[in-house]
Amino acid sequence: MVMEDIKGLRDGFLSDLKGLNTLRQLRDLKVRYLGKKGLLTQQLRSLSLLPKEERPGAGKEINELKRFVEEEIERLEAALSERDMGEKVASESLDITLPGKYIQPGTIHPVNQVLEEIIDIFTFMGFTAEEGPEVELDYYNFEALNIPKDHPARDMQDTFYVETGVGESTPGMKYTFESDVVLRTHTSPVQIRVMERRNPPFRVIAPGKVYRCDADVSHTPMFHQVEGLMVGEDITFAHLKGILEVFIHNLFGPDTPVRFRPSYFPFTEPSAEVDIGCILCGGQGCRVCKGTGWLEVLGSGMVHPRVFEAVNYDTEKYTGFAFGMGVERLTMLKYGIDDIRLFFENDLRFLKQF
Ligand code: PHE
Repeated sequence: MVMEDIKGLRDGFLSDLKGLNTLRQLRDLKVRYLGKKGLLTQQLRSLSLLPKEERPGAGKEINELKRFVEEEIERLEAALSERDMGEKVASESLDITLPGKYIQPGTIHPVNQVLEEIIDIFTFMGFTAEEGPEVELDYYNFEALNIPKDHPARDMQDTFYVETGVGESTPGMKYTFESDVVLRTHTSPVQIRVMERRNPPFRVIAPGKVYRCDADVSHTPMFHQVEGLMVGEDITFAHLKGILEVFIHNLFGPDTPVRFRPSYFPFTEPSAEVDIGCILCGGQGCRVCKGTGWLEVLGSGMVHPRVFEAVNYDTEKYTGFAFGMGVERLTMLKYGIDDIRLFFENDLRFLKQF
């Protein structure tokens, strides 16, 4: 009687198994046979109702059937999972004949390209790069560089002053506003900062952003400069000339004419501006060089003793030279660009040409 039940159970299971096509159905089947209230579980429980001598035989049969059911379910589960996975992969497969997405590569901004070139040339000549803050104290930007309080370089039209506290500005009196903090108007304050913490001999450059309240085809409120400073014993104007000539011949080509023209900066004495033969007209005279055949590319000079005094250098022992150049200006000359604003408009048609 029990044996017949077991055989019926087995047949029922096999036919249930046949009609089954999804993992979900299989899970239901598993519950129906092997779950807590499942058919096989019930059978095992009802063993206790049998006469004692029939129990071992029936128990064995039921357990065998249970093992068989478990194995069949496991086998089918594996087969169905594999089938489902295969379908999933097939439905997700890539169409490798589709055209790819074009990712536009970025390029280095022309100003940064020239900046890197400048840094490379000076690094090759033994200079190391230093940095200083863009928000700077009046002391470093002006005072320590021998720029007196009444110097025109301090004019409100050039310098961006930074408001440092309530009540420092005078309402309605914009042009009498005074502050100890400025956006640096040149990279020369880095000269002071370097000399405050180093002793000669050394040669450094200081590349970075500077700010001036000015805007037209050749001026933007922010632009880049590279400062240079070399200090030691017996540094002369000849060293200044030599270094800057090598620099210009590297940046603009070995045949570029170079000219040193007397000039004035409060922090150098003597001072010189450096001109190169006009790149565009070859010295004939054109619109860009205003008919002179020369283009001004940088300012320079021998460090003024007052500057050395500000950093407590022995002015009897040490001499040095300094120079400063505008990177946008050099880039414009190098590539024949006539409007500085092009560098800041982010027009890809312009930027892609470099
Ligand atoms: N700081 C000067 C300027 O911005 C350039 C300069 C630097 C001149 C060092 C002489 C020496 O115009």
